[in-house]
Amino acid sequence: MKIRIGNELDVARLMELNAEVPKAAHWTPRQWLDVFREATPARICWIAEDESAGAAGFLVAQYGGPEWELENIAVLPEFQRQGAGRALLTALLAEMEEAGAERILLEVRASNGTAIRFYEGNGFVKAGRRRDYYSNPVEDALLLVHMR
Ligand SMILES: CC(C)(COP(=O)(O)OP(=O)(O)OC[C@H]1O[C@@H](n2cnc3c(N)ncnc32)[C@H](O)[C@@H]1OP(=O)(O)O)[C@@H](O)C(=O)NCCC(=O)NCCS
Repeated sequence: MKIRIGNELDVARLMELNAEVPKAAHWTPRQWLDVFREATPARICWIAEDESAGAAGFLVAQYGGPEWELENIAVLPEFQRQGAGRALLTALLAEMEEAGAERILLEVRASNGTAIRFYEGNGFVKAGRRRDYYSNPVEDALLLVHMR
């Protein structure tokens, strides 16, 4: 799986991909376009690409300053458990190292066991709980942090 930086030409494919992964955060076209605009907060997007199938996963993070935020990550079901998610996270952590960032935070639905195991298996630890953070359905968020 090749990892590359995404750009605004990828938005249509990223939206398709997003729609095929129900547990990812779902964004409107406007939100996707904002990822690639000069804006505050600044965001960065990586894409995991399969040689024959093309884009199979993505990660979006807010960056800048000591604390970054992992906002969205998804791998197509047929490509899960093959290392794409870990490769995307590795790209993010390398970028943080280079930028001298201290930590990265994320929120995850308390019921999303697969994602929680994935994050904990990749060095994130629980840092808190936000009660009723999500809607549709209402659910707590776990706050996870990874120190660089
Ligand atoms: C979370 C997600 C991105 C992980 O991507 P992935 O490409 O399947 O993950 P990887 O193959 O790189 O897994 C790396 C490690 O994470 C852990 N892991 C990943 N999926 C797991 C699962 N279903 N059960 C237990 N551990 C798991 C394992 O330690 C795994 O290493 P191993 O396969 O050598 O045991 C993917 O499952 C996904 O897209 N889920 C739906 C969207 C989502 O929930 N996003 C997060 C919202 S906050």
